[in-house]
Amino acid sequence: MPLLDIRNLGIRFGSAQAVQDISLQLEAGQVLGLVGESGSGKSVTALAILGLLGNAAQVTGQILWEKTTAGLGHAGNKERERIDLLRQSNQSLCKLRGKEIAMIFQEPMTALNPVMTIGRQVAECVEAHAVSWTGREAKRKATAALEAVAIPEVARRYGDYPHQFSGGQRQRILIAMALINKPRLLIADEPTTALDVTVQAQILALLADLQRQHGLAMLFISHDLAVVGQVADRIAVMRKGQIVESGPCRQLLTAPQHPYTRSLLAAVPTLRTDRSMPLANLASTTGVEQG
Ligand SMILES: Nc1ncnc2c1ncn2[C@@H]1O[C@H](COP(=O)(O)OP(=O)(O)O)[C@@H](O)[C@H]1O
Ligand SMILES: [Mg+2]
Repeated sequence: MPLLDIRNLGIRFGSAQAVQDISLQLEAGQVLGLVGESGSGKSVTALAILGLLGNAAQVTGQILWEKTTAGLGHAGNKERERIDLLRQSNQSLCKLRGKEIAMIFQEPMTALNPVMTIGRQVAECVEAHAVSWTGREAKRKATAALEAVAIPEVARRYGDYPHQFSGGQRQRILIAMALINKPRLLIADEPTTALDVTVQAQILALLADLQRQHGLAMLFISHDLAVVGQVADRIAVMRKGQIVESGPCRQLLTAPQHPYTRSLLAAVPTLRTDRSMPLANLASTTGVEQG
């Protein structure tokens, strides 16, 4: 049974259908890549999972989540409870967010509070979900979490503010915050898009490493098929609010079925790409805008 089972999800803003009848499954410990051009509905799908779409959106379908139940894992007690995230109270979603399901976004600067030290921000994530932590315990956990994402000299920099860190370091801090409560699912929405290519590669490697270490499930969202291809076990390709193709990563990269997936692949330069030629023009070959 999948950890996350999205069934016939529809998202509409007034008369605009942002997402239409999509279904996605994610197994525990697996990475599902969601790829598609800008505006195809990736972010609103992620926000729907967390119940963060707001009242303007009309959402239909089901988002089934396998809930952790006390006593799970004992022999003979393999009953797993599934809840529909679209039908939970805000209060129960608050308990899930950051604890069972965590999210990181594209813009590390806007996701951090500019007037609070990074140590305090990470410690607050611990305190938000565990009333019994003392300040000192939270600080110890926060320090360990920052060390795990390779922030240098954590003891000295614990009291520094977000602007004193580079973009890549800020994204590492957000990853530390997302993982500190040991969630089962991490949603990463374009986590490397705002970063330089070399930093992007480091953050991708860090995410892949942590994902394996923690046995974490990850929904990895990007407009860039090359990036998704580096981390995903399975890939779903989205276009104009619909899934046009999905399958195991390797199969999708080596034998894409849908013309749109082929056009995304053609846009990925390889060592064999003739660099004297202009990049494939998606609009002229398949009638789609470039994302
Ligand atoms: N709050 C909103 N109100 C109205 N339309 C929205 C809102 N959020 C997103 N949309 C629309 O939904 C579609 C999908 O957006 P989004 O999920 O952000 O795309 P992606 O993340 O794939 O780039 C877009 O057409 C966008 O304009
Ligand atoms: Mg987006």
